Amino acid sequence: MDLSLEEFVALDESAKAAYVGDCAILYAQQFDRPDLDAYCSLADICRALHKMPVGAEFMASLLPHRMALNFFVQPSSRTFMSFNAAQLMLGMKRMSVRDVAISSMSKGETLADSVRTFMSYVDCIVMRHPDEHAGDVAVWIAMHAMRTIHIGGEERPIPIISGGSGTKQHPTQSLLDIYTLEKSFEHVGGIDGKTIMLVGDLKRGRTVRSLSYLLKNYRDVRLLFAAPEIYQMEPDILEFCDRHHMPWEKLDSLDAGIARADAIYMTRIQDEWDGLAKGAHTKATDRFVFKAEHLDRMKDEAYLLHPLPKRDEVDPALDYTDDRRVVYWRQERNGMWMRVAILAQLFRVDQAIRDFAATQGIK
Ligand code: NCD
Repeated sequence: MDLSLEEFVALDESAKAAYVGDCAILYAQQFDRPDLDAYCSLADICRALHKMPVGAEFMASLLPHRMALNFFVQPSSRTFMSFNAAQLMLGMKRMSVRDVAISSMSKGETLADSVRTFMSYVDCIVMRHPDEHAGDVAVWIAMHAMRTIHIGGEERPIPIISGGSGTKQHPTQSLLDIYTLEKSFEHVGGIDGKTIMLVGDLKRGRTVRSLSYLLKNYRDVRLLFAAPEIYQMEPDILEFCDRHHMPWEKLDSLDAGIARADAIYMTRIQDEWDGLAKGAHTKATDRFVFKAEHLDRMKDEAYLLHPLPKRDEVDPALDYTDDRRVVYWRQERNGMWMRVAILAQLFRVDQAIRDFAATQGIK
């Protein structure tokens, strides 16, 4: 079925996910359990392989003929840097556009024309954009533009990867969150059967939305949504959970869930959408702040995550604790390995990495 750009943008995300297949990474609904398991195992392999000089050299020999564009027109530290690091590890060349004010978009060029222009020069676009439909526009153009690239024996559209779209999706963040959860729960049966508490600005937090979508791929997961009413999770995600038989509860404080949660996923208030004065920030509500004493009330096998950047919603005393349950700095580094895995899979060098790793005794 072919669709005009307008028809495509009007679809719901699951239909978009089906339409784009594996031409892009834009919606967490694109992934099933085997995909998630494959990404996690590949990220592990890349991490182990890169520790060996011969492995790092092999990885860097894989994609020297590929040019990536990192098109990030919203602030970013981790996603931008970890994609850059991942591209370098795979030997890719990179360019970046980080400011529309100094591109032709400031002359009135449409996003569609700009993206089409970028596609003349690069083999992959990683994009972070405030408009939740910017990725839709880019993938539709990639699927309809004349330029294709040869990947794994096929002519394919230029891959588009979301590094965060509006308030709606951040699929690669949720993949690294899954990787972090799976590693944390490695000795206690993985993510299946776990209770995950999401805390903070669930309404505008794109990470918690994408993560909720991915968690439906695990058995018997229960979600706790702890947020002030104005920042509570949107009804579409609650309906999604219902459709996928994922029990959920809304909570009015972090305390209400802390003793039950196997993972606590903190988020900051996304006040960039509130039009505040430059440098001004909304303070986190005390009932949703993770304080040092909360560690005493957490289960022994529970983990504290945060996509970062964090502000006052987490006690800074936790940053240098040796409590192994505080995993957000590990989560940040996991992001780089997951992004190596994502790029390797998109460019179909995943099997070559697995084969080479096996020759080095890595499985
Ligand atoms: C998140 C984002 O951009 O949505 N950051 C990130 O990529 N780690 C979370 C946030 O900004 O709060």
